[in-house]
Amino acid sequence: MDHFLYKNGVLHAEDVAIPEIAATVGTPFYLYSAATLTRHFRLFDEALEGTDHLVCFAIKSNSNLAVLKLLGDLGAGMDVVSGGEYRRAKAAGVPGERIVFSGVGKTPEEIRLALTGGIRQFNVESEPELRVISAIATELGVSAPIALRVNPDVDAKTHEKIATGKSENKFGIPIAKARMVYAEAAALPGIAVVGVDVHIGSQLTDLAPFEAAFQKVRDLTLALREDGHAIRRLDLGGGLGIPYTRSNLAPPLPVEYGALIKEVLGDLGCEIEIEPGRLISGNAGIMVSSVIYLKEGEGRNFLILDAAMNDLVRPSMYGAHHDIIPVLEPAPGTAPALFDIVGPVCETGDTFAKAREMVPVGPGDLVAFRSAGAYGAVMSSEYNSRPLIPEVLVQGDHFAVIRPRPSFEEMLGRDSIPEWL
Ligand code: LLP
Repeated sequence: MDHFLYKNGVLHAEDVAIPEIAATVGTPFYLYSAATLTRHFRLFDEALEGTDHLVCFAIKSNSNLAVLKLLGDLGAGMDVVSGGEYRRAKAAGVPGERIVFSGVGKTPEEIRLALTGGIRQFNVESEPELRVISAIATELGVSAPIALRVNPDVDAKTHEKIATGKSENKFGIPIAKARMVYAEAAALPGIAVVGVDVHIGSQLTDLAPFEAAFQKVRDLTLALREDGHAIRRLDLGGGLGIPYTRSNLAPPLPVEYGALIKEVLGDLGCEIEIEPGRLISGNAGIMVSSVIYLKEGEGRNFLILDAAMNDLVRPSMYGAHHDIIPVLEPAPGTAPALFDIVGPVCETGDTFAKAREMVPVGPGDLVAFRSAGAYGAVMSSEYNSRPLIPEVLVQGDHFAVIRPRPSFEEMLGRDSIPEWL
């Protein structure tokens, strides 16, 4: 459920009519609903009620400071994968003890930043990384809390570009080697082993791969305890999928996911961390765009929008589906037609949808891409010298621009021409 609904024939974000925002900020733009973000965070928090837990929002899915502040104020922790994301979490007011640092290639500078600024735990992905953390922590005279991210060799059954839990993926330490690496970790100075971490992929629509991975984490935890490690925390990653279409093939609910966690791991006495991104932010955001032209092609009609692949790359990168709906509700009985929905960028990959059924819209009309709050703005670029599009947050009957559209002067002003040219 989200808060993007038609009211009196006009699409609203909570209580604000979208044409009103479009008139103020211009199109295209991203638009987030505070009520939906709040609701989705609480679904996870409630799903783990009764267990000691922390829901760490995966900043990579939506890193706007206003979004982070909203979630941080609700008690969320943050999952970061770079020094930039760490700085964002801090700038949004989230304390270090609620920040976990994931990622396969943490640099010495990033490790130092987190150790000096405060960190809940590093999710360590290799032995060389473990040794670097040990060296820097020792030099700083601190102890670095760590979990090893294990690769359980489980097929997440999702898009190949976002599956991470198979042995051929670059992520984590092979689970078969884990006991050996934990032994090394325990012997290293400046390292405090606190837990086990796993993340098998994103946009999972079935609980079975989670169950398989959690079972392996359970077995490993028992084995590690036998080896004398005080495993007190389990980080189970993110990955629960969202419905991108209004079909009845809905992914499992957070409450079912929470029940599975409790069932498989609940008796271990561990604090549970999860790192959801998409389920919190995905359906809490839309991208609003205007139709520039309707072009009649041979055997197909192109709807040319002012948004493009640089603004929302998921369709061209993963072949991802986003529902695209008119902002003005079509009159009942309006017959849909088929459109290829494209942007103005100069490559054929700049196609949002092919032969998509859509009620006729024309130049100047507004359309909304649903489910664009996760991996939308964060993956955008200025390809074709198109300035990054603004982000807007709605709460109740008011809205604020939470990232303005840069001017062309700002965009061009970042380049410099050497004086010897
Ligand atoms: N934790 C770790 C270590 C991750 O790598 C990820 C996502 C998450 C948590 C959050 O997963 P989520 O709950 O959002 O599924 N750009 C792709 C998705 C890439 C996901 C990468 N890792 C997309 O647009 O579908």
